[in-house]
Amino acid sequence: MSAVGFDEVITLDGPAASGKSTVARRVAAALAVPCVSSGLLYRAATAIVVAAGTDADDPAAVLATLGRHRVELVPGVAGDVLRIDGRDVTRAVQSDEVDAVVSRVAVHPEVRAWVGERLREMPAPFVIDGRDMGSVVFPRARHKFYLEASPEVRAARRVGERAADLASVAEAIRRRDHLDARQLAPAPDAQHLDTGPLTLDEVVDWVLARVRGAGTP
Ligand code: CDP
Ligand code: CDP
Repeated sequence: MSAVGFDEVITLDGPAASGKSTVARRVAAALAVPCVSSGLLYRAATAIVVAAGTDADDPAAVLATLGRHRVELVPGVAGDVLRIDGRDVTRAVQSDEVDAVVSRVAVHPEVRAWVGERLREMPAPFVIDGRDMGSVVFPRARHKFYLEASPEVRAARRVGERAADLASVAEAIRRRDHLDARQLAPAPDAQHLDTGPLTLDEVVDWVLARVRGAGTP
C-alpha cells in the first residue's frame, strides 16, 4: 500500500542546484504521483517580463504584463510542463538570462501571491519543490524536506547543465542565494539533508524511506 494518501503533499525545498527538482521527479515517480516545480512559475513570470522589456523592479508593471499572458503549469508523474500562451517553454526558461533576473521578480509579494494562488489550485497528492513550499505555501504538508549542499558542490552540479565556467556559475549561485535569502528560511518542521556527499540515488532513497516509514495516516 502506498504511504501517500489522497490529500497529501510532499514538499522539497532548498537553494539553487541542491537537487530539489531531480529528487522531486524521482520521488514522485516512485510513489506514482505527479510532481510540480514551483520555480517554473517564477521563471515563467521572469521570461514574460524580460521579453516584454518590463521593469522587473516595478511590481505593478510586472503584474500588468503577466495579466496579458496565459501561464499554465501542468503536473505530471514524469515531470511538469510549463506553457506560456500555449507554447511549451519548460526547458527554455532554464536559462542564464532568466537566472539573472528571476530573484528580482520573485521578491515582490504580489508575484509570490500570483504563484501561490496557482499552486494551491493543484489537486493533491503531489510532490512539489521550491524555496518556501513547506514554510509558506503548504504549511500543513504531511512530509517536508530541506535539501542542502555547499555553493561549491552546487556549482559543480550545475556547470554540467549550462554553457558557463565553474567560477561564473558559482558566482551566479551565490548571488541568487543572497537575493533569495528570505524565501530560503526552512520550515521549522522540515527534515534536513546535506546532499553534498550523497549520490542522487542515496538522496531519493533517504526521502522515500521517511515518507514510507511514516506510514498511512
Ligand atoms: O532550480 P533552481 O533552484 O536553480 O531554480 P528554481 O527552483 O527554478 O527557482 C528559480 C528562482 O525562482 C529562485 O532563484 C527564486 O528566486 C524563485 N523561487 C522562489 O522564490 N520560491 C520558490 N518556491 C521557487 C523559486
Ligand atoms: O532543482 P535544483 O536546482 O535544486 O537542482 P537540480 O536541477 O535537480 O539538480 C542539479 C544537478 O545536480 C542535476 O544535474 C542533478 O542530476 C545533480 N545532482 C547530483 O548530481 N547529486 C545529487 N545528490 C543531487 C543532484
